[in-house]
Amino acid sequence: MSTVILSIDQGTTSSRTLVFSPRGRILFTAQEEFPQIYPRDGWVEHDPETIWDTVFKTLKQAWNFAEANDHNVAGIGITNQRETTLVWNKETGDCLYNAIVWQDRRTAAACREMAKKMPVKEINAKSGLIHDPYFSGSKIAWIIDNVDGARDLAKAEKLAFGTVDCFLIWRLTEGKSHATDATNASRTNLFNIHTQEWDEELLELFNVPRSGLPEVKDCVDDFGTCSLLGEDIPILGVAGDQQAAAIGQACFEEGDIKSTYGTGCFVILNTGETCVTSDNRLLSTICYRFDGQVTYALEGSIFIAGAAVQWLRDEVKIIDHAKDTEKLCRSLDSNKGVYLVPAFTGLGAPHWDPDARGGLFGLTRDTGRAEIVRATIESVCYQTYDLFKAMAQDGVEPKILRVDGGMVANDWMVQYLAGVLNIPVERPKVLETTAFGAAALAAIGAGIFPSLETIKEVWKLDTHFDPEMDAETRKTVLAGWKTSVQKVLTD
Ligand code: G3P
Repeated sequence: MSTVILSIDQGTTSSRTLVFSPRGRILFTAQEEFPQIYPRDGWVEHDPETIWDTVFKTLKQAWNFAEANDHNVAGIGITNQRETTLVWNKETGDCLYNAIVWQDRRTAAACREMAKKMPVKEINAKSGLIHDPYFSGSKIAWIIDNVDGARDLAKAEKLAFGTVDCFLIWRLTEGKSHATDATNASRTNLFNIHTQEWDEELLELFNVPRSGLPEVKDCVDDFGTCSLLGEDIPILGVAGDQQAAAIGQACFEEGDIKSTYGTGCFVILNTGETCVTSDNRLLSTICYRFDGQVTYALEGSIFIAGAAVQWLRDEVKIIDHAKDTEKLCRSLDSNKGVYLVPAFTGLGAPHWDPDARGGLFGLTRDTGRAEIVRATIESVCYQTYDLFKAMAQDGVEPKILRVDGGMVANDWMVQYLAGVLNIPVERPKVLETTAFGAAALAAIGAGIFPSLETIKEVWKLDTHFDPEMDAETRKTVLAGWKTSVQKVLTD
């Protein structure tokens, strides 16, 4: 009988549970996609029961696989789309409203009002974040203020608030555990990343009552026990998906940096015990917390990356499969001056413009499918460049970047990225770094991995991409991108 870990990865477009061997090998994957709900322009929601049903269904499949193969399940790790917010009734467990997704912009005006009460420097000094609808605080407040009777329930301390990890822990433990981990807490705008406590002043600013918030634990901790599968399984590791990817990519040294290309793209730079404050609108956040010891990160968040490829496939319908993009990109010698700015849900770092919307520029009579597809893939690389530029202005110049996520299966894209950034890019053998990161946390909790060092041993390089773009081309394409972004900015 061998020991395995179940890793739940609740993402923006699907829920998955993976079974990992003690050496970090994927033995089984169950995945369920689910619909996005767009009630209005800029609003994005998920049905909480669909989140729960898809998670539980995949968990059950993973459990059945483990049973059928005589594996002993040592524990559960959870990783999740961050910032997405749920509010539920502590007595019934029912959610009061749909989950408001991280991409949702409905609280943009509320955030602008809050900026008048607490300047950005102050909010950043406490939470590491800025005033933006991206984060959970304003989403919690919106639900309490807009659902009939919610404020009264909150006053009566009958409501629980949480990010997706917290909601899943509650459901998996049948309401026995109301907990989150420090990385997810650091995405709420309510958590003081220096004191490691919910911050009274921030709670007052957002008008969110303390009584609804979860206990904040280390990434490896006792998050409760799931008894829904017929046996007691401990939940031992939790981290937001981008932090879990940084862990899975073994970014444990100060200066280590990774970029994950999922729905969005998120660059995380390990800054060690120092919480680096950006002067260029990057975020300070918690990379991980073990035994109360915090490792910080500087983060650049781009809202649309893989989602732009989905847009090409599902809305514009000019490709059948994401993998078609590589061939189309390769079919052109240059981008022919065509740029897409995928500001579909506003722009994140470093612009933070929630009201910006997308634009396609430089079209000519002969612009076709290949140019539009290439402009879409290039836009993801340019957005990453903007984050690196902001980091350089903050005095940080990474020497090498590790990438992961579905998009980086596209060799052309990774080669172009290396060219635009002008640094080498490394792609690991296992691209499932997010789920692996959560599994590794649970493996540490279960005593299967003695320490983080084991993750370093398990990490294996697939391809090293050296930059090949000449300086003149880099200059030209980045200038074209800059001009295009200026056209969609609203402030
Ligand atoms: O902050 C949002 C992020 O956690 C979502 O990740 O994988 O859906 O791009 P992803």
